[in-house]
Amino acid sequence: MSTAEHLILSEMLAQEPQWVSGTALAKQLGISRVAVWQQMEKLREAGFKFEARRALGYRIAERPAGPHAALIETQLKIRPRGFSLLVLDETDSTNDEAVRQLAAGRSAPFAVIARRQTRGRGRFGRVWHSEANGNLYVSVAFRPQVAPAQMSTFTLWMGLNLCELLVNFTRLTPGLKWPNDILFDGRKAGGMLTEARVDADQIRDLVFGLGLNVNSPAGGWPNDLARRAVSLAEVAGAPLDFNRLAAALLGRTLLAYAKFGDGSYTKTFADLWHRFDVLRGKSITLIEAGRRHHGAVTGLDDEGALLLRDAQGRTHRFRAGEVSLEKAR
Ligand code: BTN
Repeated sequence: MSTAEHLILSEMLAQEPQWVSGTALAKQLGISRVAVWQQMEKLREAGFKFEARRALGYRIAERPAGPHAALIETQLKIRPRGFSLLVLDETDSTNDEAVRQLAAGRSAPFAVIARRQTRGRGRFGRVWHSEANGNLYVSVAFRPQVAPAQMSTFTLWMGLNLCELLVNFTRLTPGLKWPNDILFDGRKAGGMLTEARVDADQIRDLVFGLGLNVNSPAGGWPNDLARRAVSLAEVAGAPLDFNRLAAALLGRTLLAYAKFGDGSYTKTFADLWHRFDVLRGKSITLIEAGRRHHGAVTGLDDEGALLLRDAQGRTHRFRAGEVSLEKAR
């Protein structure tokens, strides 16, 4: 996107819902009115609709429904030095694209968002359904330079931040299911996949991937997901402003990362955990390395491992695994 296009968009967003005069825009940018009109055509091609009135100028009538780089950037409230955003129409996996960008020397932090993924991945190499259906596929890359053990609670911390952001943004209350699921009433609206590359015993780089079901319609899921997945729009009963949400989410992710890095996250972690954890006290089955473990969840340890009390009263800790809730008998 050209600087002129960017500036026109910023000005129109800042003035919303007021009209912005084409003459004033042209003067401000030092370009002709025809050039302003040409830039607005480009914005139209990207999915914007404008109202135009001879005496008043222009105003935004409709925003693009899918990811739009400038729309996200202009609404991003936090921007660490050197941060950049890449918005793609399609990629295999935003996590893989982030790794390629890291390998090519792109400076971190940066984010990759795609409208659709052809090989979206979840945990345990599962497929993450990634059609161009109004959902968010994003990866944020960092170069933390710490020992892997220091990142053990990172994904949980990010999940808690996402939950709090979603409450503020949508007035809906999600839950976090250890270790990486965002749920509404037991149905999955989001999943996180953090992948790190380690050199000797230091993390070289880290990619935090998030798939969030934002605006996909009810009934739009393949059969195997229909009963387990849900979108924010379904829960809220109306579609959300995708790019505003994406900007808020990115801002929160960058802030949460900073708090993790300087250690200040420890002040709020426990409170957020108690607020959003959906497993506490629940009887669950946890599958780890092909073995099933049954028990009641008693909490988390300092490293983010799940604590499970078995029928004999012994406590076991799990650093990874797949949890399912046992049905009440
Ligand atoms: C899970 O619940 O198993 C994690 C799902 C993570 C999906 C996201 S979508 C964006 C990023 N790119 C991927 O290929 N995976 C993550």
